[in-house]
Amino acid sequence: MTQFNDLSSLPRYLASRRSGRPRDMIAPGPDAAQMREIVRMALRTPDHGKLNPWRVVHVASDQRDAFAEKLTAAYRAEKPEAGRLEIEAMESFARQAPELLVVLYSPRESSKIPLWEQQLSAGAFVMNLLHAVHAHGFVGGWITGWPSYSDAVRDMFGSAPEQIAGFVFIGTAGQALEERPRPELDAVLSAWDPAKD
Ligand SMILES: Cc1cc2nc3c(=O)[nH]c(=O)nc-3n(C[C@H](O)[C@H](O)[C@H](O)COP(=O)(O)O)c2cc1C
Repeated sequence: MTQFNDLSSLPRYLASRRSGRPRDMIAPGPDAAQMREIVRMALRTPDHGKLNPWRVVHVASDQRDAFAEKLTAAYRAEKPEAGRLEIEAMESFARQAPELLVVLYSPRESSKIPLWEQQLSAGAFVMNLLHAVHAHGFVGGWITGWPSYSDAVRDMFGSAPEQIAGFVFIGTAGQALEERPRPELDAVLSAWDPAKD
């Protein structure tokens, strides 16, 4: 059986990294001190121009009901015809996993650094956050979905032109992680052909 997130060495970890599924996560999650260390580790993210075009909002466990309430209200406002199942899906989204970090992409629009590079840095930041979660022995999952694309939800955590880069749910895997197909190496890695133009 494959061991995922093998922390016995850094290469083994990187070769076995696997996200968890937020809805399968159970306690424990990181405590307050661990959570700060996790975010501190993610500060070491490549960032052209030292702009840190990203920031993190922690939704505390006792705030999940409030988040569920506001999320379902935002969903109903945008989709007044929403049925019970859709509303329940939003409630489950808000309440899953022991811990939740909302990562915001905070573009520095006046900077000379292209926004594309700032977006790349935001993605790298979330990836580093996941690594830091795993380095602490927990499992993380990066998801987006409808809440990430709603301005009303974004406004619960930040303001325009910020965007939600993702919801990072954190906890302990409640079910054995399963392998996920990966691309063939040679479909991704090729040798440059100087004749190509
Ligand atoms: C920007 C971004 C958004 C994602 N949003 C979702 C999502 O909404 N739902 C989902 O099931 N997986 C989503 N994923 C995929 C998971 O984060 C995860 O990568 C996937 O389940 C595979 O697991 P792995 O990280 O072990 O490869 C997203 C990934 C990225 C990069």
